Amino acid sequence: MFSPGSAQAAISAGSPCKVAGRERTVKGVTFACRKVNGKLVWKRKKFATIDAVVTTRVLESAALASGASAVVEVALSRGGSTGVIVSRSQDGLSAFRANCTHQGFPVTRVGKVLECELHGSQFDPATGAVVTGPASRPLLRYEATESDGSIFVTVRPA
Ligand code: FES
Repeated sequence: MFSPGSAQAAISAGSPCKVAGRERTVKGVTFACRKVNGKLVWKRKKFATIDAVVTTRVLESAALASGASAVVEVALSRGGSTGVIVSRSQDGLSAFRANCTHQGFPVTRVGKVLECELHGSQFDPATGAVVTGPASRPLLRYEATESDGSIFVTVRPA
């Protein structure tokens, strides 16, 4: 579950920040420092709109062992980026938007599943299917391919 003391949890929606306009990306989710009711707080930026097909080299093949996952950033054609979690299983590669379908918190690999720390949803890393709720929808699938020792991710408009 969510661990406020961890380095990754230092920035979360509503936590204080110091410089208006500053942006930070944590596990594929981008936060921007905004003034709300007179206080500077981190606000989660809305998901970047994917309005064109983008294929990006994200990893060397050797960097992703079977049974492992990695969160990568894919830059979008009109600016911004989207977090993608790429996994390798005995069936091959898979790629999904890194945001939980419950409330958008980023998922990470925990053992044999992709897990959202916020409320505990778990997803199958090969299919994106929900293993444990409260999420009820599978992760949004992207395309992962491998060529010449590199892994590529293709994102498309929904
Ligand atoms: S945001 Fe992922 S379980 Fe709630």
